[in-house]
Parts: sequence; C-alpha cells; structure tokens
Amino acid sequence: MAKQVWKAGNMIYPLPAVMVSVADREGNSNILTVAWTGTVCTNPPMAYISVRPERYSYHMIEETKEFVINLTTEKLARATDYCGVRSGRDVDKWKECSLTPQKAAVLQYAPAIAEASVNIECRVVKIEKLGSHHMFLAEVVSVSADEAYMDENNRFDLNSTGLLAYSHGEYLGLGEKIGTFGYSVRKKPAGRQKSLQRKKKSPEKRRIRSAAHKN
Ligand SMILES: Cc1cc2nc3c(=O)[nH]c(=O)nc-3n(C[C@H](O)[C@H](O)[C@H](O)COP(=O)(O)O)c2cc1C
Repeated sequence: MAKQVWKAGNMIYPLPAVMVSVADREGNSNILTVAWTGTVCTNPPMAYISVRPERYSYHMIEETKEFVINLTTEKLARATDYCGVRSGRDVDKWKECSLTPQKAAVLQYAPAIAEASVNIECRVVKIEKLGSHHMFLAEVVSVSADEAYMDENNRFDLNSTGLLAYSHGEYLGLGEKIGTFGYSVRKKPAGRQKSLQRKKKSPEKRRIRSAAHKN
C-alpha cells in the first residue's frame, strides 16, 4: 500500500461535533460547536473540550467552570454548523437557531439545549493550556436523555436518535449498523431452536437490547 507522508497534524476522524452550551455568572448564555472533545475516563466519568481562548465562550467556561455537551443529530446539523461559524459576540445563537435553553439538572449556570436528545453536564477540574487550544478537563456530573428514545425496559436507544458525525470538514450520518461491542468473538447461536427464537424477536427489539455496552 503506497502512502504519502505528511507533516504532523490532526487526523483522528470521525468525531462528534457537539454543541456546547455555556453561561457567565450574570446569566448570559451562549452555544459554540466543538469537535475537539471526547471521553477521558469511565470512572469517575470525565470528558474534555478544547477551546481557543479567543472564543467568546471561553471566558464563560473559565468563569463558571461549567459547560454542557449537547449531542447533535442530523436534524440539528444546520444549527451545529451555524454555532461553529458565528460568534455570540455578534448574534444570539439561541434565537437564530430556534434553540431553547433549559435549566440543567445539576449545574448552576450553564443551561442545556432542550432540542438535543442528550445533555452531558460537566464541571471543569483542570484547564490545560496546550497551545492554540486550552483543554477543559471536566467531571461529568449529570446526563439527561430524551424519554422518547426509551424502550419499555427504560433502556435508551442512543443510536436511533440520528447522531451526527464530523469527519475531515464534513458532517455525516452514522450509516448502517455493522456489529455490536464484542461481536467479533461472540459465539453464533447454534441449532435450529436458537435461530427460531431469534426470528421471533423483532429487529427493533434486538437493536435496543444490544445498544448498551461498557468500556
Ligand atoms: C464542526 C466545527 C467544529 C469546531 N470545533 C471547535 C473546537 O473543537 N474548538 C474550538 O475552539 N472551536 C471550534 N470550532 C469553532 C467555534 O465553534 C467557532 O469559532 C464559534 O463561532 C465560537 O463561538 P463563540 O465565539 O460564540 O464562542 C468548531 C467549528 C465547527 C464548525
């Protein structure tokens, strides 16, 4: 396989492009889009966002040590892009994108975005001044999920919310399901009895049952 070698740069894709909602102590709030984000620890649950200090939102996060990561969906793609190309210095992104600030479950200042299916409330524990971006390392203090995607067993089917991915400058949907966590080593159900049993379950039910995994 012939390859070109490039100078060092960032090429880890796909990523989520999340909408991060923030506020200052006076109650002024804003939204910015962030792709430099991720999970860094399972227990305690921790996440990060990396933000350029010149962003209007930066001082709000620095001041309150709070932010909400709102997962985005295909339906929210336009708003996600808009919140990443316009500044709260110039426009009211809530109004322009018809988004609604919602009181967070635990945080005092930063609101959640009501239209997002998942709101991940974060409290900053460390600011790492890396260079172009400062990383806000944070503890996840609460997660809210849209009840519309709960099944009868109260299990959340995240992958039916229409999650949005960001890859190399483009927004994409997630496409078809290929497998579930550990499927490469899982034994296939043997015998006619098992295959009959599987057929009885609806594809929808099977998808919901296999939606959760823990790393
Ligand atoms: C897809 C996408 C991803 C982005 N990711 C980041 C990021 O990780 N960190 C960052 O500082 N800015 C990022 N931006 C840029 C900010 O969202 C943008 O500068 C925004 O206007 C800042 O808003 P504010 O000035 O109201 O805070 C991204 C923009 C887009 C469109």
